[in-house]
Amino acid sequence: MSALPPRFIAIVPAAGSGSRMRSERPKQYIELNERPLLWHALQTLTRVPRIDLVLVVLAPDDSWWERFDWSALGERLRPMFVGGDTRAASVANALAQLDAAENDWVLVHDAARACLTVAHVDTLIDGLHDDPVGGLLAVPVADTLKRADRAAAARVDATVSRDDLWQAQTPQMFRYGLLRRALGHEDKVTDEAGAVEALGFQPRLIAADITNFKVTYPQDLALAAQILLSRKRASE
Ligand code: CTP
Ligand code: MG
Repeated sequence: MSALPPRFIAIVPAAGSGSRMRSERPKQYIELNERPLLWHALQTLTRVPRIDLVLVVLAPDDSWWERFDWSALGERLRPMFVGGDTRAASVANALAQLDAAENDWVLVHDAARACLTVAHVDTLIDGLHDDPVGGLLAVPVADTLKRADRAAAARVDATVSRDDLWQAQTPQMFRYGLLRRALGHEDKVTDEAGAVEALGFQPRLIAADITNFKVTYPQDLALAAQILLSRKRASE
């Protein structure tokens, strides 16, 4: 067995269309504080010293990437035009092309979570580096949850206990070998942890905060812009 320490590789799926955003360009390229939206997460990941490589997964027919200058993000950033029909397929395609060791850690992060910080990533890596399974950033559910009555529009059927419920975020961090096996089986899951769970493992939940939310709807853009701007001002 090789005693090489594991590498940390980030994979950023950015091959979606952003249908809920209803914008004229793909969500990942919408302007957010004078940069394309996906710039922000890529910048954070390239600033984490422990991460060796940042792979961004783009649609095979992506015509937007080359319109921007990414050189400020450094040598560890690499585009891959291998996106698939689903997020899981996009990640699986990138893993299939990646020359990695079984033991290397892969951190999968949504391009749409633009407000990720280096501290979020450090918390995840510190919490998981010796974990046998891996895990994900997540936030305990704070609000009271209601299940809607399908038959009656916008009427409450029941209040659902929020005990033990968490909202899953990204990055999600698993060993390369396990993640490849997991995503090879599952195409319907919406996150990597779901695929790993389907193999019978229990990923670890690492507490994060709601600023690492996923920009999904048009109204989310103003909130993301405010968070990024307030951090920029605080650092000046
Ligand atoms: N993604 C991907 N390949 C796909 C679908 C999604 O790489 N076939 C990426 C998106 O670009 C995004 C991340 O997965 O960075 C999370 O997906 P989501 O926020 O749902 O983005 P979209 O699928 O683009 O948006 P929507 O679901 O509103 O269409
Ligand atoms: Mg989607």
